[in-house]
Amino acid sequence: SVVYLNGQFMPAEDAKISPMDRGFLFGDGIYEVIPSYAGLCVGFAAHIQRLQQGLAALEIRCTLTAQDWKELVQQLIQQNGAGNLGIYLHVSRGTDSKRAHAYPQDISATIFAYCFDIAAEPEADIDKAPRYKVMTSTDLRWQRCHIKSTALLGNVMHHQQAAALGLNECILFDQQGFLTEGSSTNVFIVKNDVVITPPLSSQILPGITRQLLLNMLRQHSTIQVEERPVSKNEVLCADEVWLTSSSKEVAAVIEVDGKAVANGEPGTLWLQAQQLFSLYKY
Ligand code: PDD
Repeated sequence: SVVYLNGQFMPAEDAKISPMDRGFLFGDGIYEVIPSYAGLCVGFAAHIQRLQQGLAALEIRCTLTAQDWKELVQQLIQQNGAGNLGIYLHVSRGTDSKRAHAYPQDISATIFAYCFDIAAEPEADIDKAPRYKVMTSTDLRWQRCHIKSTALLGNVMHHQQAAALGLNECILFDQQGFLTEGSSTNVFIVKNDVVITPPLSSQILPGITRQLLLNMLRQHSTIQVEERPVSKNEVLCADEVWLTSSSKEVAAVIEVDGKAVANGEPGTLWLQAQQLFSLYKY
């Protein structure tokens, strides 16, 4: 595959980064994953805006504008066959031989982008829908989960808890027992035909899929939507549970902690939500 590193496109095997890079030594960087189907990106502007906000929060200087990112990503897609691709963008603070914790002021960011094959666009079809089984756990990550940091060990360890049990995702609850998100997804529940998801906070990544879905439900459906705290009991007693992310779009959860969600099948509002997503996502 062809990748981008610091201003140049090159074969993946030619891309070299110093082990002194702060992305490697400290996890000091910001990343994005943008889905792209046949050359069309989903939520491109929102993804770039979140990237810029993360860089600003970490005071990482990166001079690429939204237009620069657009051209970079378009070239990357063309050079990699323009199929179904996940576009990975990564900006680390850069390389510094001193290994000092404080932000060095005299280094320039390392900018890396590559893409990988992803599944075809998810369909709004109950029979074909992937069925997700999840576990619950106390959220043991840090207090800045709204920053899409490359330091993902907290998320990785939670995800591994689920993977070790043959499950697809670990959904997390704060110390007070309120839902935050999944290890790599945002979480929605449905109760009595109302779609509910936790409000944005520093304990949740502001998911682009989450925001697109909320906008679509409000603008193009009569389905009632609430952003409010969700207790663990509400998740366990929900009529439907969904996960959202760039790669999954809206995914139906059929089992939580070994117990079926309602009748153990993707629900009718899931079908409507994924239909809306398919219609309006570009
Ligand atoms: N994960 N929450 C977390 C912790 C995530 O890592 C992600 C995305 C999401 C969903 O965000 P979005 O809808 O913008 O993809 C929520 C990406 C895809 C990943 O790390 O692979």
